[in-house]
Amino acid sequence: MPAALRYSLPAVLIAPCSPLPREHPDLFPKDDVTSSENIPGTPATDAGNPAPATADSAPPAPATTDPALPAPVIPEPDQTERVILRSAEETGEAGCPCDLIVIEDSTGALTSFALDLVADHPSATVWSWNASCAESRALTGLFPEQVATGRLRLPAGEAPVPLEEFAAGSEAHLVLARLPKSLPGLEDLAGRLAQIAVRTGREDLTLVAGGRVKHMTRSQNEVLGAVFRDVRASRGLGKSRALIAAAPQAGITAPEPMHGAATVSVRGDRRELALRGIGGVFGGARPDAGSLLLLEALDAALTGGELEAHQAVDLGSGNGLLTAYLAAALPDAAVVGSDDDADAVAATHATLAANALEREEVRVTWDASLSRLPDHSIDLVLLNPPFHDGTAVDATLVQGLLDAAARVLRPEGQLWFVHNSHLRYRPEVERRIGPVTQRARDRRFTVLSARRR
Ligand SMILES: C[S@@+](CC[C@H](N)C(=O)[O-])C[C@H]1O[C@@H](n2cnc3c(N)ncnc32)[C@H](O)[C@@H]1O
Repeated sequence: MPAALRYSLPAVLIAPCSPLPREHPDLFPKDDVTSSENIPGTPATDAGNPAPATADSAPPAPATTDPALPAPVIPEPDQTERVILRSAEETGEAGCPCDLIVIEDSTGALTSFALDLVADHPSATVWSWNASCAESRALTGLFPEQVATGRLRLPAGEAPVPLEEFAAGSEAHLVLARLPKSLPGLEDLAGRLAQIAVRTGREDLTLVAGGRVKHMTRSQNEVLGAVFRDVRASRGLGKSRALIAAAPQAGITAPEPMHGAATVSVRGDRRELALRGIGGVFGGARPDAGSLLLLEALDAALTGGELEAHQAVDLGSGNGLLTAYLAAALPDAAVVGSDDDADAVAATHATLAANALEREEVRVTWDASLSRLPDHSIDLVLLNPPFHDGTAVDATLVQGLLDAAARVLRPEGQLWFVHNSHLRYRPEVERRIGPVTQRARDRRFTVLSARRR
């Protein structure tokens, strides 16, 4: 392991993707747009949106480092990362003059290790892909020299790059990853790796994916076994273990979006909205019950003339249910669906397309906490935030999103927010945004609105 860099990642490095200048006059500039061309299996066209940027086509935005802060540091690998690294070495040829692919490295430890493995092979490159906009940006800040020399490739630009497109130019035979949290996420990953094997001609492509034993099930082996010829588990290390899946089978097709639907009131009329889920997106293609409760109350307020919005945002758009509602219920408004997660961005595009709700003023952005929207510019923000990090409740996830809503709302603009009824968020919302009204409540969920002071 590299000897340097031993303290934890400063929060400032969890920086947004490509921030817009705050004074930007245009809320939704054209090049913010990502497209349904990013849906797996649907290649980008020259005529439509430009092909997604890669480290080749777009230089990464400068990292948001402050010279007054200590240099960014990569933490020691945790137990799961250590089992991934040990298993990678045991699979052999880890350090051959080959490229390596790293997936979902949230700390930099796996990428750092991969760089170390290829250090003796000047032509080898590490391709580190992350679905999270914030985490991709953080890696750019951690490894500026390696990115500048081309030793390390990261997704760059403002649209998420599908993994199989990003890694299509690699010469990799080994993929280091954390196991996705959900089975659909793992299925999606396996399908994309099979696509990479086809595109790069690497029939020996091997995935080493680690996780905590308590979160691992036999179903994960079965999901991988449907794509790879050889699947086995590593020896355990403490409470972690890795699955090693080698040699993707021929004829595996690109993962297809999941299909679902939600019936909601749009300006008082019941309407079915088609939903699309991609990879590990929250809820797959199913509507979230909290979002449905929020929409019921919001539609009553819009229909009753209690609320008007010309600029509306769905913060954390997931499968796009709330974005699609806004596009349908506010046909003259500018609407933004925004998510940190590449799968969510692709799913939101797909949901809008499935409902014929795409129009110039309806945009979808890959962004962390609305960093590319100007301050005090938005009339209405909808938020169904994450409350869990993995399986643990993490209340801090909400605070940053409430702060983002507070920043972009104009005075008198409204936040509509849904949370689990057993959690207490009213004081938090009131302190960060302004006076709060409870709009709906059932056993599971509570919907609040807050007026920006
Ligand atoms: C609970 S899901 C809600 C999804 C969707 N709005 C719905 O109602 O089904 C929360 C979403 O917020 C996204 N998210 C989490 N942190 C974010 C951030 N800092 N910026 C943007 N999106 C974020 C997640 O990726 C996830 O898709």
